[in-house]
Amino acid sequence: MIEVIRGDITALTVDAVVNAANSSLLGGGGVDGAIHRAAGPRLLQACQAIGGCPTGESRITPGFDLDAQWVIHVVGPVWRGGSHGEPDMLKSCYSNSLDLARQHKVRTIAFPCISTGVYGYPQREAAKIAVAVMQHAAKDFERVICCCFSAEDESIYKQLLA
Ligand code: APR
Repeated sequence: MIEVIRGDITALTVDAVVNAANSSLLGGGGVDGAIHRAAGPRLLQACQAIGGCPTGESRITPGFDLDAQWVIHVVGPVWRGGSHGEPDMLKSCYSNSLDLARQHKVRTIAFPCISTGVYGYPQREAAKIAVAVMQHAAKDFERVICCCFSAEDESIYKQLLA
């Protein structure tokens, strides 16, 4: 079951929220900043202990002060025009996060629109990749949520999932 929700991912009551992090895992702006603010300082401590994450890969920590039990941190590709492996890297972000979720018996998971903010990935192209991976994995989960912050993203996802 894939759902499209518009709102703040930190407000969702799900087993896992996915964080669009950077390779240092030491926090940032956008959804990364929001998740760290909501989860509290223990999240940064847990991330410091991990010591970074390569682009395309994901790491899991507890959610601490978040409702979510887990935060799956993933590092999306920076958009550089589309011929530097960005699509495959973005696809790996979604598939690696879902693999990690499965390993931790996650049943409900929410994704932000990875790489489409600071990292500049075109929204529609990113959404096509995200939806394709989610549809392939949806049978393993109770709820897979696309948590869109903007109305534009929400309509893109709704069109693709219609
Ligand atoms: N809830 C859900 N989505 C959010 C929230 C939120 N609270 N805040 C921002 N977003 C959306 C943005 O509108 C965008 O659609 O998350 C999507 C991803 O944007 P960014 O957070 O900028 O992430 P990204 O483009 O992957 O860039 C990652 O930004 O914050 C830094 O540390 C982070 O260096 C990393 C880079």
